[in-house]
Amino acid sequence: METTLTLDEINIRYGLQNHIVIEEKTPGFPILTLQSPSATATVAAHGGHVLSYTPNGEEPVLWLSSLSHYREGKAIRGGIPVIFPWFGPHASDSGKPSHGFARTRFWTLHSTRLINGEFPQARFQLTDSELTRTLWPSRFSLELVVTLKESLKVELIIKNEDTEPFTCTCALHSYFTVSHISNIEIQGLEKASYIDQLTGGPHKVQEGPITFDAEKDTIYVDTAATCKIIDPGFKRTVFVEKSGSLSTVIWNPWIDKSARMSDFGDDEYTGMVCIEAANASHNAITISPSQTHILSTSIRAEAI
Ligand code: BG6
Repeated sequence: METTLTLDEINIRYGLQNHIVIEEKTPGFPILTLQSPSATATVAAHGGHVLSYTPNGEEPVLWLSSLSHYREGKAIRGGIPVIFPWFGPHASDSGKPSHGFARTRFWTLHSTRLINGEFPQARFQLTDSELTRTLWPSRFSLELVVTLKESLKVELIIKNEDTEPFTCTCALHSYFTVSHISNIEIQGLEKASYIDQLTGGPHKVQEGPITFDAEKDTIYVDTAATCKIIDPGFKRTVFVEKSGSLSTVIWNPWIDKSARMSDFGDDEYTGMVCIEAANASHNAITISPSQTHILSTSIRAEAI
């Protein structure tokens, strides 16, 4: 998307009547609304960041903080932040931003299209720049493809544009709305090995479904499993499928950490949980020059 275009010109070029409309949250902060026959989604060009996905007549599937920032250089709190080229704190320089820089830059809206006359798709791009190379030396291009059918599909295509291989960690850091954190369980990671980021120490093994009664920050490794959020309060199951990902991160900040975050309401932890399709820890990926890696997630809700 050329920044010199007016909003009307952007809509003429990229809008699709009844299926994709572009508006501005604040001047210079464009947001696309995608509409399929059965669902609505919104995506910000900042971060290539999916903000919402709501099947018709349902509670929102993705969670978004009421206190989120919406400005360049700040990550949006909620939706699906794109984490690249490192997950979590930088390995050797704590001065570098948590979770890399892809979520805090404006991406370019490359194209939009309609699949089978009813399912909208938007494609965003981010490439290395002088600024990214001060944080991470490699040349890369990222594409984020968002497709709305009955389900929401998000694909992150990571291409090595450099002359040397590079190694990165990454995630589609999805935040989900739940009726109450104490009443849900997550199925799919039974018997998976995990790193407890709160306590450190040796890997542990998940016994049974995941439930919540305190802060949780865990990286499940070597797993490609689909996760299910069983939510009796909303009478639904949310399916979180993924590919190109061997780690799954589960996060809820609970009381003290919520209170420490300026962009997170003190009580909002009760209504959310993160299930992140990731490649973290020893599941880091190495990509050769001109090669790509595709990390993707598909999300849908079913009544129970
Ligand atoms: C999760 C991490 O992925 O993201 C947590 O496992 C972290 O450790 C959380 O607290 C939020 O990170 P941030 O940088 O968005 O506050």
